[in-house]
Amino acid sequence: MYKKTLIPLTPTIEWIDSRVRLIDQTKLPLEEEYIETDDYHVVCDAIYRLAIRGAPAIGVAGAYACVLAANKIDETELDKFVKIYLEKADEIGATRPTAVNLMWAVKQMKDRATSFSGSVGDLKLALLELAHEIREDDIDRCHNLGLHGANLIPDNANVITICNTGGLATSGIGTALGVIQYAHAQGKGLKVHVCETRPLLQGARLNTWELKRTKTPFTLMTDSMAARTMEKIDIDGIFVGADRIAANGDTANKIGTYSLAVLAKHHGVPFYVAAPLSTVDYDIESGADIPVEERSPEEVTRINNVQFTVEDIEVTTPAFDVTPAELIRGIITEKGVAKYPYKDSLKEHRNAN
Ligand code: MRU
Repeated sequence: MYKKTLIPLTPTIEWIDSRVRLIDQTKLPLEEEYIETDDYHVVCDAIYRLAIRGAPAIGVAGAYACVLAANKIDETELDKFVKIYLEKADEIGATRPTAVNLMWAVKQMKDRATSFSGSVGDLKLALLELAHEIREDDIDRCHNLGLHGANLIPDNANVITICNTGGLATSGIGTALGVIQYAHAQGKGLKVHVCETRPLLQGARLNTWELKRTKTPFTLMTDSMAARTMEKIDIDGIFVGADRIAANGDTANKIGTYSLAVLAKHHGVPFYVAAPLSTVDYDIESGADIPVEERSPEEVTRINNVQFTVEDIEVTTPAFDVTPAELIRGIITEKGVAKYPYKDSLKEHRNAN
């Protein structure tokens, strides 16, 4: 069982009465609505639409989607059941390409099925048990990395963050935003300078909602205000999350993260990535191999479905960018703070108890 968290958990994703319940993040902060379903297609759609989002959270959502998919398969012969199940699991794993936590969780859900011997009924129960374990494991990892990361924040600090990496992005207390909120929960004075995070405004919509809940002081700025903020204010650290970290420490995260890292170098501000080891893809050497998701042009040309530029234009749409490892002062994981060169230190974290 996970340890007691220093801040309350958000109702990001839960399993209730054989259904998945998740808070609809496309509606926040103006409406607090929930999606409840026993249909894995609905969860896939929620992942694609960013109704649930953030690397660890979509890992957990993927695991529960596998359970829902399995529960709807009527086949009672194990081999036939597994064949159908694996196809559906692959469909779930392909809903978003960059965050490795999704593939990491779905792979575990597939491995459980392929190595299982017993009845289909027992396999369905085993899959549910594994999905619960993946969720609780995430809560645990976030708590531990939150404690390690909070040590990096001094009293009376000013910190910058981008995208939402709080409880909404995980099933636990979050990663980078969790680190910041843990420092605040420990009694440190601090102020968070929140990048709005164009184009989908995860910072403006979701961080404000989370920081208000924990009464953590913050100010909201547009992404383009970060340079001036670093010039005018003594910033103690920039804390960001990750969607996939390559073996050498190159880190894919929300578009705009790389610019912050470059600005941080110019201003001598320490730039930290906070992520559980489930976000590290040890199978890829460098960031060049990370697939970067392209989103719909409408996410750039519209806000709340209202078009604000001319129609039929070319639009640039990467959802993520990759920050080179050399720009990262430390990668905060549940095992501590890994330091450059990350090829060795991230392996040490993986092997640590
Ligand atoms: O497109 P999103 O909102 O899923 O992007 C999320 C991010 O980039 C987060 O920083 C990352 O997943 C880490 S969440 C703890």
